Amino acid sequence: MMERNVILSIEGVTKRFGGLVALSDVSFQVYEGEILGLIGPNGAGKTTLFNVISGVYKPEEGRVVFKGQDITGWKPHKVARLGIARTHQIVKPFGDLSVLENTMVGALFGKKADTITEEEARKIAEDVLEFIGLSDKKDLPARVLNVQEKKRLELARALASEPDLLLLDEVLAGLTPTEVERMLSLLGKIRSEKGITIIMIEHVMHAVMNIADRIVVLHFGRKLAEGTPEEVANNQEVITAYLGDPTLALRFVKRLKEKGG
Ligand SMILES: Nc1ncnc2c1ncn2[C@@H]1O[C@H](COP(=O)(O)OP(=O)(O)O)[C@@H](O)[C@H]1O
Ligand SMILES: [Mg+2]
Repeated sequence: MMERNVILSIEGVTKRFGGLVALSDVSFQVYEGEILGLIGPNGAGKTTLFNVISGVYKPEEGRVVFKGQDITGWKPHKVARLGIARTHQIVKPFGDLSVLENTMVGALFGKKADTITEEEARKIAEDVLEFIGLSDKKDLPARVLNVQEKKRLELARALASEPDLLLLDEVLAGLTPTEVERMLSLLGKIRSEKGITIIMIEHVMHAVMNIADRIVVLHFGRKLAEGTPEEVANNQEVITAYLGDPTLALRFVKRLKEKGG
């Protein structure tokens, strides 16, 4: 087996909101260059985990170790400078700023935040918009973009910070099947051409099953399963957890049948 370097290590993370335990003793590792799918029913704690990794919340227990450094409780801007970028489930670009300016914001607060000039940020943003396929919209105010363009702008802003690790919170939600395909090929390119490690929270099950190397399943704040898409799709506990949601359950069953399980 190939030697794999750990880029991110989640170690016994617990996060409470008053009496509610949003994350309970969650541990797993993410390897350099992989695409890790993070799945689980609504309220499972997926977004909370991204908030813990990116420094929005400090966990009550446990550690987050990134590139060998303990970053638990670091402020979001410091985490961003170290090379972690995220997209948000609900995309909120600065509506009055242009697409280019929104993307420049990512560059200005990213890995090069301390030294970057506005001209350098502009160059990075232009390159990223070209890569993402939004160049033709770069001078438009962000508010005129449609849903899938706003999702791609969110991704562009994150990429402009030149991260090593990208956290994607439901980037496929609300997209048509054609747009989903387009986004998936973009994510593949981000990994293969830029070498960026990706953790993606996703509800579009067939998509995450196809693109992810490994999957972690959260359920009521606990890690329910971890493994290859095949292992996870065949895990009885996972199937049972999803039976609460008939649509997801049906997709799982379909997947199992395709696998001949
Ligand atoms: N800031 C907060 N204050 C109180 N409860 C929260 C907060 N953020 C999340 N929660 C709760 O934590 C649980 C996990 O939420 P979340 O991480 O958003 O789930 P997911 O992204 O998996 O749908 C939910 O019960 C949610 O209501
Ligand atoms: Mg969420």
